[in-house]
Amino acid sequence: MSGTNFKLDMSMMYLMHDALRRELERITRATARTDDDPRHILRTAVGWEMFKTYLHAHHTAEDETLWPVMTELLPGRPADLALLEALEAEHAAIDPLLNAIDAALADREQGPQRLDGLVDALDTGLRGHLKHEETEGLPLIDDILNEEQWSHLGRRQAEKIGAEVPRYLPWLLDELDPQRAAAILARMPEQIRTAYHGEWRAAYTDLGLWHERDRSTAA
Ligand SMILES: [Fe+2]
Repeated sequence: MSGTNFKLDMSMMYLMHDALRRELERITRATARTDDDPRHILRTAVGWEMFKTYLHAHHTAEDETLWPVMTELLPGRPADLALLEALEAEHAAIDPLLNAIDAALADREQGPQRLDGLVDALDTGLRGHLKHEETEGLPLIDDILNEEQWSHLGRRQAEKIGAEVPRYLPWLLDELDPQRAAAILARMPEQIRTAYHGEWRAAYTDLGLWHERDRSTAA
């Protein structure tokens, strides 16, 4: 997916959204497994921690750099302001779901029964939000922000990711069409590309996000 009709470069936004959708699929698969306690799988999976960290970085960076600036630019456009409020409210609804899932993971009694419904709600809620942002939010962003204003999102998100970048970049590019991955890497500094190919990608694979490493050593 890409926003070829936009004047602004939306490729990193789509890349992030696609990575989040990929992880939602893995979370759903991990919690549906019957060969182990799904609570144990999720609680101990590095993939779950990474998903929460990167989702939080993405949403808080959007909350800080997009909605307030856009609100200032939209006086007299109530429908557009309502859209921004809706997108912000959708963000705010995700955190309680993540917390509820963590609470269910820690709850020996009721946790297992609650987990399925909560993961379902997260899957539906986040997918719905991403789609809403893509179909209505991005056209509005493209309409009213200039490149300089738009660039704040990428910078703020990079600040939040900080020292995580050796794990974050391979996570973003995981299972990506090779051509699309190559195009993203081509825009990065040589040093980052070299580290990605030389170390980061292999170290990321070794992490076994959803216990893939455990399974392959057990096989
Ligand atoms: Fe987004």
